[in-house]
Amino acid sequence: MPSARDLAANIPWRIKIGAKLVLSRLPLDYGFWQRVGWFRLGDMDNPEYAFAVVKRHFERASASRNYEGLVALEVGPGDSVCSAMIAFAFGVRATVLVDTGRFARQDSEAYRAMAVYLEERGFAVPRLEETTTMEDVLRSCHAQYLTGGLASLRALQKESVHFVWSHHVLEHIKRCEFVDVMREVRRILRPDGVCSHSVDLKDNLSDALNNLRFSERVWESPFMARSGFYTNRLRYSEMRDIFRRTGFEVDVIEVARWDELPTPREKMSDEFRRFSDEDLLVSEFDVILRPE
Ligand SMILES: C[S@@+](CC[C@H](N)C(=O)[O-])C[C@H]1O[C@@H](n2cnc3c(N)ncnc32)[C@H](O)[C@@H]1O
Repeated sequence: MPSARDLAANIPWRIKIGAKLVLSRLPLDYGFWQRVGWFRLGDMDNPEYAFAVVKRHFERASASRNYEGLVALEVGPGDSVCSAMIAFAFGVRATVLVDTGRFARQDSEAYRAMAVYLEERGFAVPRLEETTTMEDVLRSCHAQYLTGGLASLRALQKESVHFVWSHHVLEHIKRCEFVDVMREVRRILRPDGVCSHSVDLKDNLSDALNNLRFSERVWESPFMARSGFYTNRLRYSEMRDIFRRTGFEVDVIEVARWDELPTPREKMSDEFRRFSDEDLLVSEFDVILRPE
């Protein structure tokens, strides 16, 4: 039987927007949508996915693969705090996970599965009982889970973190907060620190650019922005500019491009038509940032 996610992938983008506008107004919490698979932030409660994502960013951060004693910070961990377990298994001293809400799984199942996955690969992880809570996981991995977004970053000490990573998150940071988030990341990063970010510029509706059809006034209105499909729509060139302006040396290590625009330029709102094809064709990129 196809999963809820497979079914959702085949729904036309207009119907998806309409459905999400309606469903996000129902008095049901994120845990409910997470269980039925309709509104999910990603796949971080799947051990294989979580391990692959965290390993990739760590390996990019340090060629020596020696993470002993590091303090690491993830922006936007999403559906679990598994990242903290993986970082612990890699030997980091402490991990900080910053999100904008308490979206991580609270039950022990995902964390016990993550522990088994790590143990089978020879990593040391704390033993987790059936009654283990998310708080126990965090404590045993020397991790904090902060859910105030920008305000949480602001509360962290200057130059206290060696490594910052994010996976499919930067495009979801509110447009009006993006520069401030990058400034905060720069402030808390040590002078010898490094960031690794994977950015997905597709529309989160049908892997195209249908989000660029809307004017800024409509798209950024609370009605749309709080409906579970928000992306800040900053384009590749704009993000790179902001990274530089906020004090980073920018090294783009991978870029994925569409062969042709997936959404016709004439259907886009005026503010996006000014971008070159070269810019609009970028669908994903991976970047390493170091203090300038
Ligand atoms: C698409 S999910 C990706 C989750 C996870 N990284 C993954 O790969 O499955 C985007 C995540 O970014 C978080 N996010 C958005 N704005 C943020 C901000 N300003 N600070 C921290 N996290 C943020 C969202 O709450 C969400 O957990």
